[in-house]
Amino acid sequence: MVDDRKLRRVLAGEAVWPPPVWLMRQAGRYLPEYRATRAQARDFLDLCYRPDLAAEVTLQPLRRYAFDAAIVFADILLVPQALGQPLKFVEGEGPRLAAIGERDSVLRLDREGAGARLASVGETIAKVRAQLPRSVSLIGFAGSPWTVATYMAQGQGSDDQRAARLWAYRDPEGLQVLIDLLCDVTVEYLAMQVRAGADVVQLFDSWASMLPHAEFERWVVAPTARIVRDFKLQCPDVPVIGFARGARDLERYAMATGVACAGLDIGVPLGYARQRLQPHAAVQGNLDPLVLVTGGEALLRAVDAIVEGLRGGPHIFNLGHGIVPETPPEHVGLLVDRVAGAL
Ligand code: CP3
Repeated sequence: MVDDRKLRRVLAGEAVWPPPVWLMRQAGRYLPEYRATRAQARDFLDLCYRPDLAAEVTLQPLRRYAFDAAIVFADILLVPQALGQPLKFVEGEGPRLAAIGERDSVLRLDREGAGARLASVGETIAKVRAQLPRSVSLIGFAGSPWTVATYMAQGQGSDDQRAARLWAYRDPEGLQVLIDLLCDVTVEYLAMQVRAGADVVQLFDSWASMLPHAEFERWVVAPTARIVRDFKLQCPDVPVIGFARGARDLERYAMATGVACAGLDIGVPLGYARQRLQPHAAVQGNLDPLVLVTGGEALLRAVDAIVEGLRGGPHIFNLGHGIVPETPPEHVGLLVDRVAGAL
């Protein structure tokens, strides 16, 4: 029997036409109903940890648009918080963590307690799954160890991830202890999300771009390969999407990590994706979030170019990074209709 889950068919290597579609950050501030639910929570983290509210915002974009997947509403920084690193989100600015940067501080992290602190994400997933048709996939996710470590070391977002990069040169063994810990916790976290009802998982490596090639191998490729390998031991049937934003050698990344699908940021040439990636793995991407803000003919032309450029190989339509808050919701509807060939 044909799998009625379009996302899963693509992730199994099939060129599904028209391609399935979902968008990174499809639940978020561009939707008035998100802002209304968010106002019921104390703050962003409270929203993440309350399964009733988190399930509601996960489902909101699915009520408006014919997306082929939902992604559980949570954040990659829940993992460091679960490990005992204090975290808050400053309104209008972003995350703040108590920065760490030495092996001793890594050893003080509370690995044993992490699973229990992340349990509410599983409850959110179970609630969402109960309300979704089977044909719509439910994506669980985590940050990749490198990207999570950049926030843990810097204590906040940064343009150059300087603290983690300096740590990698000053004390690679110490950073390796942290990365290994994050690999193990991440595998457990993803497997828990699958047990709760996720049928696809994605790893976000938003800061894969800032590394020389040898460092990229050590801090991005190797930990991702390890997570995929260990995750498959527990969840052999669940495909992993790897989104290494800004990675220069995506072919190496896709081949060496064993991900079923490589996320494409806005800069990846479609010809490269077709020739070098699609023969080995599915691809996902890569519309510029800003052309989605623009809308109109520019949006339709950009959508067509991607859909046609990746036609014939396994492709999941998505953005090359998350939706930005100023996106008009009706543009998202246009995008989905255009991908489906209805416009
Ligand atoms: O809809 C979805 O995609 C699922 C939910 C989701 C969020 N964050 C919700 C969120 C996902 C998958 C993430 C991943 C995430 N979080 C990443 C990787 C992807 C990327 O964007 O590069 C990173 C780096 C983070 C860390 C993070 N979370 C930052 C740096 C910020 C502040 C910047 C910002 O956009 O405000 C967040 C906040 C955040 N995470 C929001 C949402 C909807 C906005 C919070 C709000 O409502 O105020």
